[in-house]
Amino acid sequence: MEVVPLASAAETAVVAADIVEAVVRRKPAAVLGLATGSTPLPAYRELIRRRAAGTGPSYAAVTCFNLDEYVGLPAGHEQSYRATIARELTDGLGISPDQVNGPDPSPDGLPGAGERYEALIAQAGGIDVQFLGIGADGHLAFNEPGSSLASRTRIKTLTTQTRKDNARFFSSVDEVPNHVLTQGLGTILEARHLLLIASGEGKAAAVATAVEGPVSASCPASVLQLHPHVTVLLDQAAAARLDRLAYYSEVYAAKPAWQGL
Ligand code: PGA
Repeated sequence: MEVVPLASAAETAVVAADIVEAVVRRKPAAVLGLATGSTPLPAYRELIRRRAAGTGPSYAAVTCFNLDEYVGLPAGHEQSYRATIARELTDGLGISPDQVNGPDPSPDGLPGAGERYEALIAQAGGIDVQFLGIGADGHLAFNEPGSSLASRTRIKTLTTQTRKDNARFFSSVDEVPNHVLTQGLGTILEARHLLLIASGEGKAAAVATAVEGPVSASCPASVLQLHPHVTVLLDQAAAARLDRLAYYSEVYAAKPAWQGL
């Protein structure tokens, strides 16, 4: 796990954008794993800004897979993750909706939606780089505490805390769905490069447990310790509770120029 302590959320956005652009330059038909939530938005805006400025790569050949999706919202609902990803990222990168995949939350499609989504990801050759956020409770995607570390894409029930956290996107907490489809922790571990971003003091405890605590289903994000290529981009507040913070900063400062993230 490469922990990168940075000064601000804006800096995490620049480094995240550098990483994603490098992947797409190296492999124009890259498979990108996309996350919703507030945390990746600065990185998404940075990618869109660079493309508009003419310095970004072409995204014409990429394929995208969303991490998760609400179950129970009307199709096309503006808070569905399919609509959110289009609005916040892919439209701005010139990626057409048919290049973007998400788990199928339709009532008819629900049984078997997880297996079908896994098959689609496999058919695309797996995910090259996966954006991830972390919940204040340590959840990863919508794998809430207690999720199997080997879990696959499936339906999950949100905790009351997560529904409250997400109520800011709806007019009331009652409108936040109870159910979601989410990539499992085992699914996420199969992506070739995992890019976890966290900002703000509300994430500091979860980040410390995920990075330095025991690997445990009680903190689903701790499963990242088992992956060979994880980059954790943190602003100062999110990094504040890490015991080895000074060491991570030394490692990043001493990083060989040829190595890249
Ligand atoms: P946030 O959500 O980026 O909106 O904080 C992250 C998450 O819940 O995984």
